[in-house]
Amino acid sequence: MTGRLAIVGIGPGAAELVTPLATETLAAATDLVGYGPYLARVPERPGQKRHASDNREELARAREALALAVLGRNVAVVSSGDPGVFAMASAMFEAIETGLEAWKSIEVTVVPGVSAMFAAAAKAGAPLGHDFCVISLSDNLKPWDLVLKRLEAAAVADFVIVLYNPASKARPWQLGEALDLIGRYRASDAPVIFARAVTQADEHIELTTLGRADPSRGDMRTIIIVGSSATKLISRGAGEPFVYTPRHVELAET
Ligand SMILES: C[S@@+](CC[C@H](N)C(=O)[O-])C[C@H]1O[C@@H](n2cnc3c(N)ncnc32)[C@H](O)[C@@H]1O
Repeated sequence: MTGRLAIVGIGPGAAELVTPLATETLAAATDLVGYGPYLARVPERPGQKRHASDNREELARAREALALAVLGRNVAVVSSGDPGVFAMASAMFEAIETGLEAWKSIEVTVVPGVSAMFAAAAKAGAPLGHDFCVISLSDNLKPWDLVLKRLEAAAVADFVIVLYNPASKARPWQLGEALDLIGRYRASDAPVIFARAVTQADEHIELTTLGRADPSRGDMRTIIIVGSSATKLISRGAGEPFVYTPRHVELAET
């Protein structure tokens, strides 16, 4: 008998940002599959089996989950943020597409979650209030030239730009190059938000400008939002300014 498989987004960190549907789906599963630190965020339940794996093993993890589901288990694959954003949902569908024919008959659901970009934006105000574009800086799964091409197009088109996976020990220089490239098309006072470990115990949100942005502040727990020419600050007496992008674009005078 074929089981069920759910790919569940558990949000950026805070327990309050795990949706009721995600909580319900995780509680109903017989087996939880995922990257160890993400599984550790899910409350233990008696009788439920955990299958932890390393972060780099997405396709192997997906196949393991499908092999369990095809045996009749009720499997939940745990993913951080939203599972469809640079995460497990795509890996699962790739494994289904390229795997055993029987895997295509498994009932699969994707349970959305709060993506890090939305949690980060909410901390700063509303920087994603108008057109924006989301780019992963990781060149593990695509060539760096393609990252640069997309970044340049986004910068030229004046999108607010959200950068995921900005830097790691193995990728120390890419963020600096990315910010330099955006800076060729955007004013040096464009607001930039470095949001690290959003909604987690060691959360750190830093508001700076493109001209002052320090690439060494980015790591694998950071998301970066670069404002467009329309993104504004509202200064206030105490606390950081609010950052927002208006919902309308001023028409250029003709
Ligand atoms: C593999 S992607 C997963 C994204 C996730 N699916 C989402 O929707 O947020 C991992 C990257 O997401 C970003 N990220 C995830 N959680 C974060 C958090 N709590 N604070 C800041 N950035 C986060 C970082 O850029 C990290 O390198």
